[in-house]
This record gives sequence, structure tokens and C-alpha cells, in this order.
Amino acid sequence: MGRLSALAVVLSGALVLSACGGGDSGGSGGSGDGGSAEGGDASEVQVMTWWAQGSEKAGLDALVEVFGEQHPDTEFINAALAGGAGSQAKQKLQADLQAGNPPDTFQAHTGAELQDYIDAGQIEDVSGLYDEFGLTDVFPESLIEQLTVDDQIYSIPSNVHRSNMVWVNPAVLEEAGIDPETPPEDLDAWMADMEKVEAIGKTPVTLGMDWTQTQLLENVLLSELGPEAYNGLWDGSTDWAGDDVNTALTKWAQIVEWSNTDRDGLDWEPALQPVMAGDAAYNVMGDWAVAAYDAQDMTAPEDYTYWPVPGTDGVFNYLADSFTMPVGAAHAGGTKAWLETISSSEGQLAFNTVKGSIPARTDIDAAEFPEYQQSAMEDFENDTIVSSLAHGAAAPVAVSTAVNQAVVKFSQGASDVDTLQQELVAATESLSQ
Ligand code: GAL
Repeated sequence: MGRLSALAVVLSGALVLSACGGGDSGGSGGSGDGGSAEGGDASEVQVMTWWAQGSEKAGLDALVEVFGEQHPDTEFINAALAGGAGSQAKQKLQADLQAGNPPDTFQAHTGAELQDYIDAGQIEDVSGLYDEFGLTDVFPESLIEQLTVDDQIYSIPSNVHRSNMVWVNPAVLEEAGIDPETPPEDLDAWMADMEKVEAIGKTPVTLGMDWTQTQLLENVLLSELGPEAYNGLWDGSTDWAGDDVNTALTKWAQIVEWSNTDRDGLDWEPALQPVMAGDAAYNVMGDWAVAAYDAQDMTAPEDYTYWPVPGTDGVFNYLADSFTMPVGAAHAGGTKAWLETISSSEGQLAFNTVKGSIPARTDIDAAEFPEYQQSAMEDFENDTIVSSLAHGAAAPVAVSTAVNQAVVKFSQGASDVDTLQQELVAATESLSQ
């Protein structure tokens, strides 16, 4: 936890440092566009993400526009595969990597998820590009530390998202006699409000498929255990079999029971829809939800409001999308061009304005961003930072996959809280070894 909790301190230092260091990574300069110059074929770049549709695609489109300006001779090939949190893309990617048929670059998350690809020897060290693009001083030092494995860095982050946010329909709350502007103090107070929503015949909270249920679970655990014990879940120092975890799981289970019964078949955007439409009160979702509201021209605080999951105020449950240079990429010059754009000030400004996330760079003026991002930038600077399980930061994909399976089993009525807890103990066993 020490390293991540130092992030706030480091960030303010980085902001000062960057005042004289920014602005040297915007141009297309010398990446051999269009040919097979030194650095590999740059005639095209095949980019694999899961930003394939709806509001997620809008973010990618904004990035591609900047890419077109910075690297006009490199053709962008969209290899996006729909499915929130990479629910489809990650499987296909794994198969392609194993078959020695990688895309030119792919979306991954900083943290434990990347370790899988590093261990498998599937991605290249790109630390040279940090020097070449002038990135070392513009990312928070502790983010760079988190990205560094044995003195090497294997990806470049485009953004930072926050997982512990509640998206709220104010009209539904008012109808239920709840003040939407005053967030509940803790999980129990929030659950008491959910009961009031149920009493007016509306759905208290909406959920979607497996990973959205895991995302709710991580934030219920964070709320109940606090950041230190939450971090301990990922290094074996907090006991998954403990009573406090059991209490948290019991509360999570109650919330799942109050949620929409069609949850297992819904991706995150359809799951948020009933909250937008006034049929439900709350949805816990990463702040890509902002992009979904923007897409429907809905604005806060009139049409929606948001606050951190009750009991997690002052904690930023973080994840960062990060792009790679796969070993054996057919168009390494194109990959380099893409990495330059996604890390440039122009790229990060355009992308994060639309995506709901904040820049990983610390040298872009907050005033350039919409209101939500401004508040998230301030929180990221001041809050305690912890890592998201559902989005690859806290634990390897094998662990989050096993957790997803266990929560869905509960959601489908095929287990109870104690069984779920035993399955979570088994799912996370590798973390304490
Ligand atoms: C996350 C990703 C976000 C967003 C979200 C929903 O894993 O980091 O950028 O795409 O999934 O699909």
C-alpha cells in the first residue's frame, strides 16, 4: 500500500515539475510513418480494444482523430471487440497471442493484469519510448513505479478511471423521500435508502453481467474493510475467510437481491439505462458512465448526480488503460506511432474529455476538462489510491475470472454467502503464495 498511497504526494510534485517539461510529445516527428524505416513498418496499425460501440467508441474515435492528425501516413485499423471490461476481447487476445498472431497493439490495464503478458514474454519493453517521447516526468512517479518491472516498462497509459462511483437518479430519490445531494454516510445508511426506494416500487440498484457484480463486490469490500485491509486482500495479509469479509459479502448479497433480475445478461450500458430512465435509483460503475450520460445529452446535477460508493469517500479505486507493443507485432512502426499519440497531451486531452476518465499525464490543465473530470483529477491528487480487481489493477486475470464465476453463481441462485466465501478463498489463494 505504501507505494500507491504515496501517489497523491508524488502527483503534486509532478505537477510542479511538469511546468517546464511538458509539450514535447505532441508532434509526429520521426516515427518513420508510412514506410518500413527503422522501428518497423508504419504503414498501418491494428489496434485492439473493447471500445467498440456506444459511448466507449466515442472515446476511441476522439483518439483516432488526433492520431490521423499526428500520423497521417499510418492507417488506423480498428480491431475492437465489443464487451465491457474486455469480457470478449481478452479471450480472443489470449488466443491470438498464444497463436503468435498478435495485433499491433492492444488495450490492457496497468498493474497485475500486465504481469501475465510480461511473464508469458508476449510484450516488449517500451521504456526507450518514455525517453524518446519525454514521458518520464509527465506521469506520476508512482504510476511509473507501478509500471516498472525489473527496470523495464511494458506499456504506456492513456488514462485513469475510477471504479468506486455511484450514478444516481435524483428524481427517483426525491420520490422516495431521500435527498440526492447528501450521500449516505456508510454502506448501512445507503442500504436503508435502498429499502426506501423499494418501498415506492422502483429498483433500488441495477447490475449487469459478472464483472459488474465483481465491481460492486470490490467496492462493498472497500467500504466495509477500509483501504488498508482492502489492499491486504491482494497480498494475502487480509484473510478472505474472515468474519469481516463474511459481513461484507452478506451486504453485497442483499444488494444483488434487490437488483434487476435480468442482470446476468446485461453489459454495463444497458444496466445503467433504467437509472437514466427513472426506473431505478442507483448504479455502481466506473466513471466511463459519464460518457454514457453525455451520449444522451444528460447533465449533472439536473439529470443525474454521482458520489463515491458510501463509505469510500476519500479513496480512489483506480484503474488505467494502457497500450502495449506486442512481441512480433507486424507493424511495429505503427505501434510506435499509436503509443506516441495516446501518450501525447493532445491525445490524452481529446480522449479523456470524451471518455469520462482523467489523463495519466499530470501536465494538462484541469480547466480544459468537463466538470466531472475536474473533480476526479482533484480526488486523484488528494485521495488514498487503491487498485480495482474487476479491471486488472489488483490481481491477475485468472483471479478476477475465478471471482466473476463465483459471483455469477451466487447471482443465479446456485450458491449462498458461505459457499461464495469459500469460493473466493479458493479464487484468491494464489495471491498469498
Ligand atoms: C474497463 C476499461 C474502461 C472501460 C470499461 C468498460 O476495463 O478500463 O476503459 O472500457 O472497462 O468497458
